[in-house]
Amino acid sequence: MIKLHDLYFKPFISEEEIQEAIQKMVDEIVDDLGDEMPVFVGILNGSFMLVSDFVKLYPKPCEVTFIKLASYEGVKSTEDIQRLIGLTQDLTGRTVVILEDIIDSGNTLEEVHRIFRNENVKQLLIATLFYKPEAYDKDYKLHYIGMEIPNKFIVGYGLDYKGLGRDMPAVYQLKTTQYMTNLVLFGPPGAGKGTQANFLKEKYDLVHISTGDVFRYNIKNETALGMLAKSYMDKGELVPDQVTIDMLNKEVEKNSDAKGFIFDGFPRTNAQAKALDQLMESKDSQINAMVALEVDDEVLVQRLLERGKTSGRADDADESIIRNRIKEYYDKTAILKDYYSNQDKYYGVDGVGSIEEITVRLSGVIDKL
Ligand code: IMP
Ligand code: MG
Repeated sequence: MIKLHDLYFKPFISEEEIQEAIQKMVDEIVDDLGDEMPVFVGILNGSFMLVSDFVKLYPKPCEVTFIKLASYEGVKSTEDIQRLIGLTQDLTGRTVVILEDIIDSGNTLEEVHRIFRNENVKQLLIATLFYKPEAYDKDYKLHYIGMEIPNKFIVGYGLDYKGLGRDMPAVYQLKTTQYMTNLVLFGPPGAGKGTQANFLKEKYDLVHISTGDVFRYNIKNETALGMLAKSYMDKGELVPDQVTIDMLNKEVEKNSDAKGFIFDGFPRTNAQAKALDQLMESKDSQINAMVALEVDDEVLVQRLLERGKTSGRADDADESIIRNRIKEYYDKTAILKDYYSNQDKYYGVDGVGSIEEITVRLSGVIDKL
């Protein structure tokens, strides 16, 4: 992923794919023109890379020239096109092939046709590397098309966003969701995960998704997914990961303008971690970090026994039950620690200290993500 100014872009078309598309255009044009010597006219600025690669591949003699038009502001095409540098040579009776990097609304192309109306060329052929059929609203024929692409803003290979990105040899596509900070929060029982989740949610404006809460909500409200989950639970079976993922997906979609999410209680297995990665990817996003509160077993046992005295929770009163819960936590999360470590996304945070001390440590990790 790359960032230009305020926006994020993801890899979309590789250098190899671009070169293949250009070779295809070259072959088609040579086939059609035979021994007729064409004048290739590049439309600046965007087409400089295309023209360069194109004429290197073109196997026969040709002439090359440029005109410079401007029509773009930010990520939206405007109708107001300026002619900055016009034609500088006589093209009477010549076969002209326009080389465009991209055809979007077709406004630029319309201007190109206007320019050539008085030039008495033999024929005017249009070749474009990228073409957005959903955006094109003109009737001019496009003779050669390298690649059709969806109506999303791209950069690279000559194309820019506010002046940046033209130099990149591959093409990147604007991410539809803006950048989010998504955390998987872990902590053994008694580590203070709930307290810290509340703090993180406030400080970073994140949405806290506790899988337990999501399940209870869906079952209580008898949503389709809730009923489905319940049908497994009633049979004493595990709820399939896909059902849980579908519920999480609904939560993510409900909060589509969130700055990010804290996942709590999920994933618990490698398969679930992969599924969560896929879910985030489908939203043009990612898991940035697994943040795990690390607290020494003995400290946890003392904290939970202390809590048991006042909370009356039976499972907090028995030391062997407590130790077992802690052990179970480590058995389960060890796999996930490996999963996220392998992606350089595991952050262990010392969970011993005052609440404030721990929040400072957590902020230290998140601010660097
Ligand atoms: P049109 O006039 O709307 O067809 O757009 C043509 C010009 O707008 C191109 O020559 C580019 O300079 C620019 N443009 C169109 N779509 C994109 C894009 O996705 N990224 C960057 N520039 C674009
Ligand atoms: Mg252009």
